[in-house]
Amino acid sequence: MTRGSACGKIILFGEHAVVYGRPALAAPLMQLRARALVESRAAPGIVVHARDLARTVVLRDAPVDDALARITQLTLEKLGVNANLEIVVESDLPLASGFGSGAAISTAIVRALAAHFGKTLSPAEISALVFETEKLFHGTPSGIDNTVLAYEQAIRFVRRAPPDENEITPFVIARPFTLAIANTGIAAPTKITVGDVRCGWEQNGALFEELFDAVAAIVEQAQAALARGENERLGELMTRNQRALESMGVSSREIKMLLDAGLRAGAGGGKLSGGGRGGNVIFHIEPRDAEKIKQALLDAGAVSVMVTEVGRET
Ligand code: PMV
Repeated sequence: MTRGSACGKIILFGEHAVVYGRPALAAPLMQLRARALVESRAAPGIVVHARDLARTVVLRDAPVDDALARITQLTLEKLGVNANLEIVVESDLPLASGFGSGAAISTAIVRALAAHFGKTLSPAEISALVFETEKLFHGTPSGIDNTVLAYEQAIRFVRRAPPDENEITPFVIARPFTLAIANTGIAAPTKITVGDVRCGWEQNGALFEELFDAVAAIVEQAQAALARGENERLGELMTRNQRALESMGVSSREIKMLLDAGLRAGAGGGKLSGGGRGGNVIFHIEPRDAEKIKQALLDAGAVSVMVTEVGRET
């Protein structure tokens, strides 16, 4: 039996604007992982069991848009192998919450299959395979999720066409910083918010381009602050990024409620992370305030709150 795993990710700055060629900063979330186990099976065919989804996919019968079947098929083609296989996937990552759960499951499958056949795939190759399944989740993914997961590094990402020309640069975090990540408990498919931003952009191009440019400027300032260890600037920059996301229409009442509670309890600033509407809200906090802020967020309706340090492992 061979295993593969993948971490989750959190977008620090720049979601949505990144779909339109602006830079974004994202970091791996090492505590939460998706795992895949591969073993040979005596019976013919390939079967994928997704424990958390209570789903079993038989490759031969799977619809073309099934992500589990697609990543398995693409990886076997890439590796130039075929076999009768049983694959089991499980994940700590809540679905549709902005942690990149779909991409993490796909990445774990790619790694486990490569290990099973004794082959090595580079992060760029893994990322390219997973990008194909990201397209199934929403038509125009920027590619940031699969990139951060494949490299397991804090990445500045700029989307380019074709995808193999994307700018992927590790960014410097001079001093680790602490995030509180509050889950709204609302599963909000990225496909919908990305589609809504596209509608807004089609109807009001000038306004949305301005918002994307404002986000790009925030990303530059955040990157500079992180490189200089000026972490005290992160909260204010997050809050500015959040305002731009609100103007794009991807925030929600639940996100606002958590933001208000976190700020009142002493967070430096915060924003939604990922697609928006639901999913996660992130806050820059001082470690000494963690318990107080965590409690305030739970009281305000967060279904879970994680406190994590970013930058130590990168
Ligand atoms: O919802 P998530 O964590 O998959 O993040 C989506 C990020 C977006 O910028 C909204 C879309 C994308 O493809 O980059």
